[in-house]
Amino acid sequence: MTRMDLLMTNAGIVETIANHIRELAPNSIVIVVTNPLDVMTYVAWKVTGFPRERVMGQAGVLDSIRMRYFVALELGVSVKDVQAMVLGSHGDQMVPLPRYTTVAGVPITELLPPDTIERINDRTRKAGTEIVNLLKIGSAYYAPGAAVVEMVEAIVRDKKRLMPCSVLLKGEYGLSDVFIGVPIILGKNGVEKIVELKLTEEELKALHQSAEEVRKGIADYEAEKAKAAAS
Ligand code: 2OP
Repeated sequence: MTRMDLLMTNAGIVETIANHIRELAPNSIVIVVTNPLDVMTYVAWKVTGFPRERVMGQAGVLDSIRMRYFVALELGVSVKDVQAMVLGSHGDQMVPLPRYTTVAGVPITELLPPDTIERINDRTRKAGTEIVNLLKIGSAYYAPGAAVVEMVEAIVRDKKRLMPCSVLLKGEYGLSDVFIGVPIILGKNGVEKIVELKLTEEELKALHQSAEEVRKGIADYEAEKAKAAAS
């Protein structure tokens, strides 16, 4: 299948489910876990017509958990003491943030040399493919499942957790009308706050590049829809 085939096939499935959600559970909060993640979250948001606070994509929690594990492996420390922050789209352009990745509060930039950090960043970006290659058939499900549980618990128990999730930006980080992974506060109302971290020029550039990839996916989806409507 081409990427476009995957995009349109999954978009069809997400559209059907989103229509049912809109009719049957109009007050619900939606967490999308379908690839291409950020574009599918856009589709769910558009079809449900829900406010942006109630539609989000799961990726950053999964990507950050993986980065935490790779840091723990490298340093020989408990994964419990590692916190990681991965922003951007869920794809090759995701943006791991070593400055905001810490071991018991100490940034890994103080603990690891730059080439090791780059290796961890790269493995984090490709961790989905690593799992798929190990499994041979299928995709990751345990880790995305565990990540969804964390998000659902944050909402159901109103924990106000700070987690990276794919949300619709309206000017935050200099981006608008695009779903992309950024830190949010997650509570009983869904996306309760979008947290704007101070990013370096380089980090912000990487986030914008990542958003460009999502924008292209959204434009492809809309173009296919327009074509189908015209025929
Ligand atoms: C993952 O990252 C394949 O997107 C899926 O595991």
